[in-house]
Amino acid sequence: MSVTQDEWNTGYADGRRYRQLGDRERSLLATHFPAPADGKALDVGCGVGELAAHLSSLGYHVDAVDWSDNALAEATAQHENAARWLRLDIELDDWTPLHTDGYDIIILRFVYPFLKHRDRTMRALGSRLRPGAAIVVITPLAADTPAERRGIALDEDELARLGAGWSTVERHDAEGLAFVVLRGPQPAEAKPLPGPSADHTRYAPAGVRDATPASRQHHFTLRERYYAQVESGRKTIEVRVGTPGKAAVETGDTIVFREPDSGRELDIVARRITPYGSFEELLDAEDPARIDPDSTREEQLANLRRIYPPDKEALGALAFEFDHRPGRPGHTMPMPPAEYVRTVPHHTVYGCRA
Ligand SMILES: C[S@@+](CC[C@H](N)C(=O)[O-])C[C@H]1O[C@@H](n2cnc3c(N)ncnc32)[C@H](O)[C@@H]1O
Repeated sequence: MSVTQDEWNTGYADGRRYRQLGDRERSLLATHFPAPADGKALDVGCGVGELAAHLSSLGYHVDAVDWSDNALAEATAQHENAARWLRLDIELDDWTPLHTDGYDIIILRFVYPFLKHRDRTMRALGSRLRPGAAIVVITPLAADTPAERRGIALDEDELARLGAGWSTVERHDAEGLAFVVLRGPQPAEAKPLPGPSADHTRYAPAGVRDATPASRQHHFTLRERYYAQVESGRKTIEVRVGTPGKAAVETGDTIVFREPDSGRELDIVARRITPYGSFEELLDAEDPARIDPDSTREEQLANLRRIYPPDKEALGALAFEFDHRPGRPGHTMPMPPAEYVRTVPHHTVYGCRA
């Protein structure tokens, strides 16, 4: 359902408010989401802030986002210290104000049906989850909603689509609302790449390989600046075009990054490989801070286009996501594991093997 930013804003000025947080929602949150130490929560489309204030009372540090000034003014007046109140269009604005080290819970309450780019936005939010964390979508059901208000709710097909990109989906009833818990974002569905690489692109379920045969090792040259970003754990996504060699890489394969001037090598395991039709599409869907933490999205686009002329970009763009477990047993890390892990943003830490 499409409601503009102005319409939301005017609605709040006119006194429109939404169903208050129910007892069952509170008890589901308390049971399934006790706040961990330094727990962070993100409330997307927070409205006048009741849920954000509740999350704060559970012990979370809360970021509460809405694009309505009027909603945020009331939220701030009523619950000033409960959250960081952030004015953002979650689908279009830059996410710089959000935490880059991720969240333990991200909640969209009565918001998901209004998103214009549901899949893309959920994928992007999924990339902000800490390991083991969840997105919770709370929504009315179409079956229980009058026809004239159908757009505020989800039907079973829409709920199935919501859960499609996640490794576990739990659904609870919260006094007639669906309370959907999504964990483990999965790679975006493979789209055929344009051009000759299409036949070579393969996808395999992610899994840890203890020993990678040489045929499953791939060598990527990486200039010093980017090599240093990988080495320090700040860069966790590499972008290439879909040449047959790159399109043959599968999740679980080892990628050996080689810095050509010094000959240094560093190896990682590809955890996710997502194809896109263009660099712009890739940069819209992926977090640019994980690709090049020292450049803006626009600088990255210009750099990529400088490196790859249009006929190469036409092969399609590939995002290789990795964490920092070495892929080749016996090859040491470039620094001791304890030191290394301190350099890695929280959301990329899945554990390190020395
Ligand atoms: C139905 S209200 C729900 C408010 C609150 N979550 C609650 O449970 O009461 C939907 C909220 O989402 C906000 N919203 C919708 N689209 C948004 C977007 N793209 N970015 C940020 N906020 C958005 C609206 O301004 C509105 O406050």
